[in-house]
Amino acid sequence: MTRILVAAEVESFLRAREVPPDLHVDLLDPGAPIPSGEHEGFLALLTRRIGPAELDRLPRLRVVANMAVGYDNVDLDAARDRGVLVSNTPDVLTDATAELTWSLILAVARRVGEGERLVRAGDWAGWEPTQLLGTGLRSKLLGIAGAGRIGHETARRAGAFGMRVAYWDQDDRPELEREVGAVRVPELEDLVARADVLSIHLASTPGTRGIIDGPLLDVMKPGAILINTARGDVVDETALMERLQSGRIRAGLDVFEAEPHVPEALRELDNVVLLPHLGSATRETRQAMFDLAWDNVVRGVRGEPLLTPVT
Ligand code: GLV
Repeated sequence: MTRILVAAEVESFLRAREVPPDLHVDLLDPGAPIPSGEHEGFLALLTRRIGPAELDRLPRLRVVANMAVGYDNVDLDAARDRGVLVSNTPDVLTDATAELTWSLILAVARRVGEGERLVRAGDWAGWEPTQLLGTGLRSKLLGIAGAGRIGHETARRAGAFGMRVAYWDQDDRPELEREVGAVRVPELEDLVARADVLSIHLASTPGTRGIIDGPLLDVMKPGAILINTARGDVVDETALMERLQSGRIRAGLDVFEAEPHVPEALRELDNVVLLPHLGSATRETRQAMFDLAWDNVVRGVRGEPLLTPVT
């Protein structure tokens, strides 16, 4: 019998699938240590750090199927050293994450969080011509930092709001340029300086961690909006908090440096919309992510090629 370890939080998605009779699933509770055992596959969540110590507990492990497009929680070198394959879940969450990005852009531009809090607090005294005035989006520039799958889909939706698009990426993206008339900006600093809305879609890697730092935030236009639906550590959170406290810029954040910790100073600010890492959180998408991770883990334990390998 081949044993697979599956994060217990996704048991409901597992129920929609048939487990082949030669496979046995053990559920791993959130926060529980990885059992030392005979598991050959591990379907893991992004909240689970998988480094050398964790991998050493599973000497027969052949595959880690991460149920996320990002895989910064997995130490790829340690996995490679131990002959463990790693997969992620690209594509199936692209639309959902682009939609969530736009939810944040609109929420920040139109001060949706502040309005909602006002009504809920019972403090709304009636329509006023100057109440909670936001910013329109037409003709403004959407800056896409990282024009991969999610950056591309976010950019695609800009036309619906009459926005122009520029992007910064290590690669040329001719399709994006053709499809939405996006302009490539060679220096990240220029993109940051020109964007009315800067949307971050960079994977967290040693090369991108903290890339959006204080000096870069200082070149943002007054009143500009920073959106992060990628990974919290791509932005220097303390530096961002200081710039938000000064009221010079606004932000919409779905991700944080040390989740689920969200600094109190950030939670006190009205010019930032805060979400609990909801990028891919639709029913359809989460099932599709599970299905892809499951198919990867089953292939991995059978020695078949993974559908979406990252190593
Ligand atoms: C979510 O953040 C993911 O990487 O899928």
